[in-house]
Amino acid sequence: MFKKTLMITGVLGLAVALGQSGGESPLSPGDSRVMRGFAITPVPLNLTGKNRALVGLGSYLVNAAGGCNDCHTNPPYAEGGNPHLGQPKQVNTAGYLAGGVAFGPFISRNLTPDQNGLPAGLTLDQFVHVMRTGEDIDKDPPQVPSPDKDLLQVMPWPVYQDLTDQDLKAIYEYLRAIPSR
Ligand code: HEC
Repeated sequence: MFKKTLMITGVLGLAVALGQSGGESPLSPGDSRVMRGFAITPVPLNLTGKNRALVGLGSYLVNAAGGCNDCHTNPPYAEGGNPHLGQPKQVNTAGYLAGGVAFGPFISRNLTPDQNGLPAGLTLDQFVHVMRTGEDIDKDPPQVPSPDKDLLQVMPWPVYQDLTDQDLKAIYEYLRAIPSR
């Protein structure tokens, strides 16, 4: 009887843990990456209706690891704030992640929330799909077709595709919280 109860509790516990975190370790609001993420965000965040811990982790991944600003902000740094010129780092907040950087014929996209609050106009499912497959679902020109889809160029999706589900979700949640441009 005692043994049976223990077993049932164990199975239930596992199911709850998997259900909550999708099989990944649960994210604590006190996680050092979450706290660092809030410390380094260059723009004010709208946390209404957002998962706070995910926003913080997303900021960490975007601003301290992903380098999204380098390619998706034009220019990436404010006047007098370009670290490559030995100036103290100051991100160009006015154009933060609003795209418009040209790489030959390829132009980086606006990642900020659209009028419906969707980053780059993408739902979470679409965003994860784009980051994992590089598929250009907007089919913006110039298009580079592979056998079955148009593929984003320059964009390092072959790197980001190996992030965990939780990390991609965190990046999306952060992009939902930044100002629209
Ligand atoms: C090396 C430059 C570079 C970096 C770094 C980069 N991107 Fe991109 N990204 C691009 C370019 C260029 C495009 C458009 C490519 C094209 O038109 O083929 C793009 C496209 C995208 C798209 C497609 C948007 C749409 O509307 O379909 C998303 C989403 C995206 N990037 C997210 C990110 C995120 C998030 C990061 C950081 C984790 C990031 N990018 C980092 C260059 C970059």
